[in-house]
Amino acid sequence: MKKIVSALFLLAFQTFAFAQEPAPYAQITNVLSRNTVSLSGDWNTLVDLYEEGFYNYRGKAKPLDQTMFMDQSFFADETRLVEYDFDHAPILKVPGDWNTQRADLYRYEGTIWYRKSFDWTRKEGKRYFLYFGAANYTSIVGLNRQLLGKHVGGFTPFDFEVTDVLKEGKNSLVVKVDNRRHTQDVPTTTFDWWNYGGITRDVCIIETPATFIRDYSLSLRKEAVPSDPKAAKKAERDVLKYGRTIEGWVRLDGAQASQTVTVEIPELNVRQQVTANAEGYAPFSFKAKVGLWSPESPKLYDVRISSGDDSVSDRIGFRTIEARGNELYLNGKKIFCRGVCIHEEKPYDAGGRSFSKEDARTLLGWVKELNGNFVRLAHYPHNETMIRTAEEMGIMVWSEIPVYWHIDWTNPETYANAENQLVENITRDRNRANIIIWSVSNETPLGDARLKFLSKLIDKAHEMDPTRLVSSAMEKTYIDRNTVTCNDPLAEKVDLMSFNEYVGWYDGDADKCDRVKWVFDIKKPVFISEFGGGALAGRHGDVKQRFTEENQEYLFQKQVVMFSKMEGLAGTTPWILKDFRSPKRFLTGIQDDYNRKGLISENGQKKKAFAVMQKWYEQLKKEYE
Ligand code: GCU
Repeated sequence: MKKIVSALFLLAFQTFAFAQEPAPYAQITNVLSRNTVSLSGDWNTLVDLYEEGFYNYRGKAKPLDQTMFMDQSFFADETRLVEYDFDHAPILKVPGDWNTQRADLYRYEGTIWYRKSFDWTRKEGKRYFLYFGAANYTSIVGLNRQLLGKHVGGFTPFDFEVTDVLKEGKNSLVVKVDNRRHTQDVPTTTFDWWNYGGITRDVCIIETPATFIRDYSLSLRKEAVPSDPKAAKKAERDVLKYGRTIEGWVRLDGAQASQTVTVEIPELNVRQQVTANAEGYAPFSFKAKVGLWSPESPKLYDVRISSGDDSVSDRIGFRTIEARGNELYLNGKKIFCRGVCIHEEKPYDAGGRSFSKEDARTLLGWVKELNGNFVRLAHYPHNETMIRTAEEMGIMVWSEIPVYWHIDWTNPETYANAENQLVENITRDRNRANIIIWSVSNETPLGDARLKFLSKLIDKAHEMDPTRLVSSAMEKTYIDRNTVTCNDPLAEKVDLMSFNEYVGWYDGDADKCDRVKWVFDIKKPVFISEFGGGALAGRHGDVKQRFTEENQEYLFQKQVVMFSKMEGLAGTTPWILKDFRSPKRFLTGIQDDYNRKGLISENGQKKKAFAVMQKWYEQLKKEYE
């Protein structure tokens, strides 16, 4: 009977799991500052190309007790037929993609089973959550032979409560990670980056009191700037006299949800107390003479939130960001985003998914060398350490979900997946002052279903976070031979008119930059979210010769001149900081699985075009000081 029940459960779970994804849930935020036990390190793994660990030879789901979630060791009882043994299986490091850890996995797309066994000592009155920073792409998680759940999406965190599943003594954690691509996925089956699979970010167990602080938000209240000069002057005087309004909320989770919450910012002499409602929700607002976060002065405050037996510390910056007509204002001052695009790859030739502070410092150090103050983290949410390191270094961020190219626009599960990734991204990073833009997509083909899908995502982003700008990397359109614009219907919905243009690379040669004229009939800040061309570092030749450093340098020189004639330009992010792996880049001896549009090679070698951007950004830095 037990077998039938477990098979039905698994079937139901799989049917449910495959038929529709779990609704968005409020994940635990700021894990870095909580009581955690790391499970990162060596995990035993099995490459399961034919899904043997989950399906029988007729393709039907196996009863749970015949799947690899059982973590049965062959050597324990050789009378039973068990054809896998994690105890003697090869090791993969977590965090880390599998592609760059083993040559046989370089192009692998499929399932790999990960198993971590660990000892545990239970403490009464505590709750425990199993947390994954990210795993690409579909993860099914089992602990001590119980299925905890499934997560879809390769770049956002997820967690499961395991308070009643953890055992005293030895525990067995088994995770099935499958990076195969599907039409209905987000992203879909094709994208211009390497499909790095695996548990690519940290794994840990979070310990909390019975009632704990699950999530919170602190930001400056968005104040309308009075149009009347006298009123504006008075508003400025009031800020000097009384300070600015900080508002936010805390969300508790646990039986004693309606307990007192204390928010402290010692440097501002702030100590606010508020009682949470029965659902554990505690909104607050207060005035404080707060120093504002900016690239020039990336001021962060120690914030401590406590309630009952729980307390969480964070370092939070405060700033305003707004679009006024076709200009961008940070803290009421007009700015230009001197940026560059970055994929989440290690800075040197090992490549693979980056996740460490050291990697972040290297990549962002190059942005600083470029005289940059901004990064477009393409095309998916990067690891939290990258965002926090950028915040400390005074680098603003464009944060994006991988709604990339031709998505399955009419599929409700695809929308639910995209929205869930947006919710998880905003939930994780809503307190990062340096994120000023949420992007819902990149280069998506026009159409009614696409417009409806993306408009809904934009509304969701605005609803979750009215303090930031929302945009999308759209595409340019020629209205005659040499006149270009961006007339994507989505432009009505977004706060920035952002688009990718490759004049001089995919679109004519570099001299074409001299001929094109840009016109915009929508008064919003213009943001060039991609431009550039390829070059193999060290390959030299005539400026007209493709993939030479001279051609790339010449193209960038022409682009910079073209930008100087562009009305309402508020930011540029050339594609891309560093050469990166892509299965779409075949040119032997030049590309060899690398997209060569980097200003820097995969070995950290700066190309001649780097100096062109560096010089132009230096001029802009002076102009906007
Ligand atoms: C597109 C796309 C990028 C891609 C780039 C290129 O704009 O957004 O992801 O890598 O073009 O072709 O190099």
